[in-house]
Amino acid sequence: METRRSFIKKSVVISAAVCLPAALTRESRAAYPALKTRNPKKALVLWYSQTGQTRRYARLIGCILKDKGIAVDVRDMQEFDKNSFTNYDLIVMGTPTFYYDIPVNVSQWLGKIPAISGTPVAAYVSFGGPEGNQYNASTHILQLLADKGGVPVGRDAFRNIASYPTPNWNNPKQIDGQHLPDTATFDQVRRFAAGIMERISRGESISTGYELALREGLRILPLVWLNKKAISKHTVDASKCIGCQTCVKKCPTKAINPSRQTVDRDKCLACFGCLNNCPADAVVMEYRGERLYGFPEYLRRNKIVILEPQEFKTCSL
Ligand SMILES: Cc1cc2nc3c(=O)[nH]c(=O)nc-3n(C[C@H](O)[C@H](O)[C@H](O)COP(=O)(O)O)c2cc1C
Ligand code: SF4
Ligand code: SF4
Repeated sequence: METRRSFIKKSVVISAAVCLPAALTRESRAAYPALKTRNPKKALVLWYSQTGQTRRYARLIGCILKDKGIAVDVRDMQEFDKNSFTNYDLIVMGTPTFYYDIPVNVSQWLGKIPAISGTPVAAYVSFGGPEGNQYNASTHILQLLADKGGVPVGRDAFRNIASYPTPNWNNPKQIDGQHLPDTATFDQVRRFAAGIMERISRGESISTGYELALREGLRILPLVWLNKKAISKHTVDASKCIGCQTCVKKCPTKAINPSRQTVDRDKCLACFGCLNNCPADAVVMEYRGERLYGFPEYLRRNKIVILEPQEFKTCSL
């Protein structure tokens, strides 16, 4: 049976030939507004996260900034009022990498935020594999924030366990990331937060140019559509559902209706948030005819306990 990876690889050559030249021509922007502060007092660390990994880094960044005397709010993008953006003089945004880019619901959401002219902004992604186009995905967040007047002061990408559910989660690449995040990953996050503060204090910004990567070409492929073609039987098992509404809360498009056991296939983004968060294994999905199971079950079956940073012992964000 063809795996997701071989399926996607077949498309890479075609897509790269078609769209890489366009990707290579993306330039970084020439100038940003002046930074409105060199000494931020109130920071927002905003996260979008389906399986908790991006959120963990958001909390860690928040703890580090708080330790530097900054008032910090760490907030879930799905519950955040866009009008509150203007209350902050430092904004850090993190998302997972989905389909070689940031999730489409995140880019759409960021396109609608108010002007944040002169506010220092930093971006990070969490990602599941070294080939995931993570640099350009984090650049994409920075570009969207810079479009609203934000001044880019930091960008990074933190690798961890891939949350993409396949019928065969135990492939070598998946196992390769099973031990992440580790202490080195958390050190990378600490350096990221420190770098943001240093750049702001010096009044410096960074460029938002894309890296020249073949993978960048994949962004033009209809990957969500292709994956939806491979997914079948996407429903809710009424006999298992405990009515907790977690899937409804996590679904970015409100495509799932557990009381009717339905999924609106047109609205669905194939993000697997419902499957990856259902505590009762009640979300049914097949990928090319094989039954999928979600991230919590993947951790259970492989006895994986994710390491938490030491800061969380004393920091409650
Ligand atoms: C739908 C989907 C698509 C993904 N696509 C990619 C990808 O293109 N590149 C990558 O490195 N990781 C990919 N991943 C893995 C996630 O980016 C990674 O596990 C991330 O840390 C999950 O973050 P979260 O726990 O905050 O949701 C994907 C995961 C899902 C669920
Ligand atoms: S129905 Fe599930 S897979 Fe589809 S968009 Fe909602 S959470 Fe994501
Ligand atoms: S998350 Fe699972 S148990 Fe909870 S309402 Fe959705 S399908 Fe039912």
